[in-house]
Amino acid sequence: MEIIISQTAEESSVLAARVIARQVREKPDSVLGLATGSTPIRMYQELIRMHQEEGLDFSRVTTFNLDEYVGLPRTHDQSYYYFMQEQLFKYLNIPAANIHLPDGMAADIPAHCAEYEAQIQAAGGIDIQVLGIGSDGHIAFNEPTSSLSSRTRIKTLTEQTIEDNSRFFDGDETQVPRHCITMGIGTIMEARMNLLLAFGEGKAEAVVQTVEGPISSMIPASILQHHQSAKVFIDESAATKLKLKEYYKWVYAGKPEWQKDQ
Ligand code: F6R
Repeated sequence: MEIIISQTAEESSVLAARVIARQVREKPDSVLGLATGSTPIRMYQELIRMHQEEGLDFSRVTTFNLDEYVGLPRTHDQSYYYFMQEQLFKYLNIPAANIHLPDGMAADIPAHCAEYEAQIQAAGGIDIQVLGIGSDGHIAFNEPTSSLSSRTRIKTLTEQTIEDNSRFFDGDETQVPRHCITMGIGTIMEARMNLLLAFGEGKAEAVVQTVEGPISSMIPASILQHHQSAKVFIDESAATKLKLKEYYKWVYAGKPEWQKDQ
């Protein structure tokens, strides 16, 4: 794991966007795995800026999102489909046919999940997967005790996640769907690179458990210790509990410039 600590979420987001931009420049038909939530929004804004001002071309890119709420139509303003349109897709030139999210209204959810996995395979696998992290250590909606080799499937959200996400539903927990479709941890681990972002002190405990704790399904993100290319972009407040914080900074500061967005 590579731990990249920046003073602010703003700086982290720009650095993370550069990694994605390099990937897309070097392989224009890259397959990107994307996340929703508050964390990646600033990074998406930077990608939009690069597209608009620097001509970063997404016309051959394919995307797969991590997850979607079950029972919300794509037109619902809290569906992840809607979120992605509003926060990213409507500003980029990714062909609509190349954009994939699980369908929370699928009639046959197991068949839909199997099809989603098959589509990822058919696209050649994911080059870079963007991840946020839940305060309970979840990645995508793989909540604590999820199988570390799970595939795309239906999951039940924990009470903690329902509480965390109620802020998007006018603070009303009863409005938050109980189920979601999520890529599995096994699916995420097959991405060629994982790029995890975490900002704010509310993520500090999940971050220290992920990076320096034991690998455990109680902290699903900790499996990233087993990934051969996982980058963790965090701000100072998310880094407060890391024992080796100064070491990570020292390592990153010593890297040659050309290596920083690789
Ligand atoms: C979203 C997702 C979730 C979020 C996580 C953090 O697609 O998969 O795992 O990344 O819940 O959410 P925020 O960024 O809102 O703190």
